[in-house]
Amino acid sequence: MSFRVTYSVVNADLSALHREFDAALASLRSAFGKTFPSWVDGRPLESGDWLESRTPSDGRVLLARFHRAPTAEIGRAVEIAHRAQARWAKAPWQERVQRMADAADLISKRRMEIAAVASLEVGKNRLESLGDVEESADLLRYYGSQVTEANGFARPLGKLSAREDTRDLLRPYGVFAVVSPFNFPMALAAGMSGAALLAGNAVILKPSEATPWCAQLLYACLRDAGLPDGVFQVLHGEGETVGAALARHPGIDGVAFTGSTRVGMELFRLMSTDRVRPCLLEMGGKNAAVVCESASLDDAVEGCARSTFGLSGQKCSALSRIYVAKALHAKFLERLSERAQAITVGDPTRADVFMGPVIDGEAVERYGRACAEARARGTVHAGGARLTEGELRHGHFVAPTVVSVPRGDRLEREELFLPFVTVDAFDSYDEALGLVNAVDYGLTAGIFSQRAEEIDGFMDRAQAGVLYANRATGATTGAWPGVQSFCGWKASGSTGKGGCGPYYVAQFAREQSQTRMGST
Ligand code: NAD
Ligand code: SIN
Repeated sequence: MSFRVTYSVVNADLSALHREFDAALASLRSAFGKTFPSWVDGRPLESGDWLESRTPSDGRVLLARFHRAPTAEIGRAVEIAHRAQARWAKAPWQERVQRMADAADLISKRRMEIAAVASLEVGKNRLESLGDVEESADLLRYYGSQVTEANGFARPLGKLSAREDTRDLLRPYGVFAVVSPFNFPMALAAGMSGAALLAGNAVILKPSEATPWCAQLLYACLRDAGLPDGVFQVLHGEGETVGAALARHPGIDGVAFTGSTRVGMELFRLMSTDRVRPCLLEMGGKNAAVVCESASLDDAVEGCARSTFGLSGQKCSALSRIYVAKALHAKFLERLSERAQAITVGDPTRADVFMGPVIDGEAVERYGRACAEARARGTVHAGGARLTEGELRHGHFVAPTVVSVPRGDRLEREELFLPFVTVDAFDSYDEALGLVNAVDYGLTAGIFSQRAEEIDGFMDRAQAGVLYANRATGATTGAWPGVQSFCGWKASGSTGKGGCGPYYVAQFAREQSQTRMGST
């Protein structure tokens, strides 16, 4: 088996991997500017206008054009999905598991091409892009294993008399709309779609308008794995139009969404008008790390830097608040600021670059506002400016930024989704844990400490779904299917059961008990 890239890969010999990535990139560059359709009933949908996919590294480069699905086509796609779903749900569950396993193998086989596209579309560095692709394949495999272990979600129940026989089944809802974000264009689109499909639903995917090419490649893998026409369809377009129209459509039986809390709540309202339809929402974060006095400073600085600046801070799991024990605060701040300044920012398709651009001009403006506010109300220790030197002037590049602001400041409470972190000092451990929990969100959190009672207390009291202790490869980031479940608490999620975790697929189905009376 070839070397598998996860988000925790460090210090490995990656020279062969880089050669393969270079080759994939060269072949993609020669194919820039193509057009790709939306996909309905296994056929290309091309009538209407087009949206452009450009790389955030250089706005002059048009990657490809994608068909913008007219909202008038949504009814037809939903109707087709229902017809296809009825057949798909009747097929043995082993067939669905096999299709997903085959798709996973195709994703793994095509990983270099897909990762190069993700790097171009999102601005992810090479390892983050390969990790996203490998994660999407592992999600399909892991979710398939949940169906197999649960015997297709069918089990016998008890009896009140000798004559009766009851089976409990999880049965699909019907047609799920899957609305995915830009930052993990493969893992999140594949994970949500794959789980819905494995449970026997049909899926209409509305991928982020910033990453349609990745969605096209995912579609190709599922199609080439033998998924029947109409079971998985892709409609490109903006969220406010195509995404909202899908949620409004009465033929949509459920929505799986990953994205911001603002949009997730909007979808929840759209989905909850006449009846309650399942709304699986994975949303934003404002994730904290606590660095205790006993911590290893090296691990804490490295783990915090990787989680703050990886993918330019554009992970829901990204670290954006750090609370450091007073005795260590000055040293930690100095070391983290040095680490931030040493980060290579640039074209993320280059092998030596750790941090690429942010996704778009709006993110650059958000960064500018955050830096101005930090300057006005606090101190900027590192970064704080847009980067426009040389090759960077055509892209959305900003400097890794470390600030201090007054406690409870907006910058310490609201998700910014930028390579931007606040650092604050604490006097007592209890105070630090109170600060970790003092936000609306509850996604990930980390602690650095060498005292078991501090780690245990953190695991017990931190109000977030994903907790890490002493993780130098990522203080709050880097979950993997079947290794860390990824459940948003509070304003970070709606279901109480996370992606990557053991209870995920069952949420895409509804329970039915079937009692048959025999004749003794
Ligand atoms: P976003 O909320 O802007 O968009 C997500 C998706 O929703 C996109 O496909 C978009 O087109 C669509 N959309 C936008 N407005 C819509 C509307 N009115 N109706 C229907 N659909 C609409 O998020 P983003 O900028 O793509 O991604 C970043 C956000 O995602 C961050 O908040 C991040 O924390 C979150 N996220 C969460 C997780 C998690 O697992 N909890 C994982 C990744 C990202
Ligand atoms: C994400 O889905 O945004 C991040 C996942 C992770 O880093 O664990």
